[in-house]
Amino acid sequence: MGPAALYDNHGRQLNYVRLAVTDRCNLRCFYCMPEEGIRYLPKKQLLTFEEIERLITLLAQMGITKVRLTGGEPFVRRDLMNLIHKIVAIPGIRDVHITTNGVFTAPYVKELKELGIASVNLSLDTLNQDRFRIITRRDEFGNVMDTLNQLIDNGIPVKINAVVMEGKNIDDIIPLAELSKDKDISVRFIEEMPFNGEGNHYTTLTWTYRKIFDYLKSHYPEIQKIADPANSTAYHYKIPGYQGDLGIIAAFSRTFCGTCNRIRITAQGVLKTCLYDAGVLNIRDLMRKGVDDNELKNALMESFRQRPKDGFEAEALRKNNIPVSESMSTIGG
Ligand code: GTP
Ligand code: 5AD
Ligand code: SF4
Repeated sequence: MGPAALYDNHGRQLNYVRLAVTDRCNLRCFYCMPEEGIRYLPKKQLLTFEEIERLITLLAQMGITKVRLTGGEPFVRRDLMNLIHKIVAIPGIRDVHITTNGVFTAPYVKELKELGIASVNLSLDTLNQDRFRIITRRDEFGNVMDTLNQLIDNGIPVKINAVVMEGKNIDDIIPLAELSKDKDISVRFIEEMPFNGEGNHYTTLTWTYRKIFDYLKSHYPEIQKIADPANSTAYHYKIPGYQGDLGIIAAFSRTFCGTCNRIRITAQGVLKTCLYDAGVLNIRDLMRKGVDDNELKNALMESFRQRPKDGFEAEALRKNNIPVSESMSTIGG
């Protein structure tokens, strides 16, 4: 029998941890990082594999069952596969997922399948090689498509994550949606958030989830709403006759906080109980100070019992009202 369910102060069950294994990335997507002047963390500041294994083991004992590895780009971290081997073996962890940009991922797909990885979410904002180069500031489109094909061929469930950006990839929305025609994949369109290392570059968000939906509806009048899985970040839709489905993630409008089941661990080992908070507990420092397992669990529990009710409250609680602007690469998305 597993542990009792874990709840926060708003009665929401917590069972999903998003772990950033590195803050480094081999791409420079403009919605995530500035082109230059990024200060990466010194290696010593990252959680070690041993620290990660200990932390996930404790979280599993507390009721966490789902792990998502994020970054930066997870496959930039050396020996990532060794870490995955360790994580899938942790008692209580039922499913392990990865969010990746897909540039380095293809050679590992077979092994991921053998390890029983539950799904891979692939960041892909365009199907046009030139626009890919402009958005990511790197010329790696071919490798990403290679990963997509390998994932499908190996039967690993795939979701495409596409951030919708005015002036950048609007012409890609329909071609991306068309990927769901012959492939049983989920193509998800995401509202852009100001986590880009610089801050807001718009005063109001143009491509809200409503506008994204209206755009899809105008091209696919027959589009249908389908049921959303519990705790889903996305609203799901289906185009009749298409194998896969479409999703819209209101990441900036934050419409799904009421069922939020996730916590985050940043690359440097800081706990975030909301994407929009500034970090609520430095787990790495506690571990390096030598706290025992019970002390660590108590500290975690205390944070879980003080969660903001939604991303707006979390943002408002940030010290000195400094707006969110850090790079997604340190948070893990
Ligand atoms: P599934 O586990 O497959 O449902 O994926 P996911 O949506 O939890 O994770 P993914 O890493 O694919 O993230 C997709 C988009 O949703 C990214 O832009 C994330 O930043 C955003 N996102 C994920 N979780 C949250 C959240 O808790 N709050 C907000 N506002 N956005 C989130
Ligand atoms: N706004 C919305 N989504 C973002 N992502 C990265 N930066 C942003 C942003 N500023 C997405 C990526 C990746 C996921 C983890 O987060 O597309 O798929
Ligand atoms: Fe959860 Fe915060 Fe995201 Fe809302 S904005 S779903 S509370 S992480």
